[in-house]
Amino acid sequence: MALERTLSIIKPDATRRNLTGKVNTVFENAGLRIVAQKRIQLTEKQAGAFYEVHKDRPFFGELVSFMCSAPVVVQVLEGENAVAHHRDVMGATNPAEAAEGTVRKLYAQSIGENSVHGSDSLENAKREISFFFAETEILP
Ligand code: PPS
Repeated sequence: MALERTLSIIKPDATRRNLTGKVNTVFENAGLRIVAQKRIQLTEKQAGAFYEVHKDRPFFGELVSFMCSAPVVVQVLEGENAVAHHRDVMGATNPAEAAEGTVRKLYAQSIGENSVHGSDSLENAKREISFFFAETEILP
């Protein structure tokens, strides 16, 4: 297995409920290491650009406005097979389908307000990490 980095976002529903530490405890207990992190307020322009791949989907406007509704924590997680492992630990997009012990089973409120985002491929992880972080801000 390869050491990888992935982009993780703790979404507004979780930061609003003061769950940042609890979410990251699940990631850290699963062997993922936080190697970069910042709490930011996204603008609609930034959120729209980040989620551009979904721009034709019916929920796009709702997704962008939700992501700007409170601060988010953007972070880089590092570990063996980190992209797929992080997605496993996050759980299914719809919390009703998420496995026991996953972040979304524990904390998500709905398919939209689902507490966390994670890159879905190594290629997208590289793009998403560079969207928020300079290489010098990542400290293993
Ligand atoms: S996934 O995980 O990318 O395969 O999931 P997908 O179903 O393609 O959803 C992509 C992102 O859109 C969010 N989403 C929604 N937001 C608001 N309303 C509705 N109905 C909705 N359905 C999906 C979902 O949480 C995914 O966000 P990210 O940040 O990529 O996990």
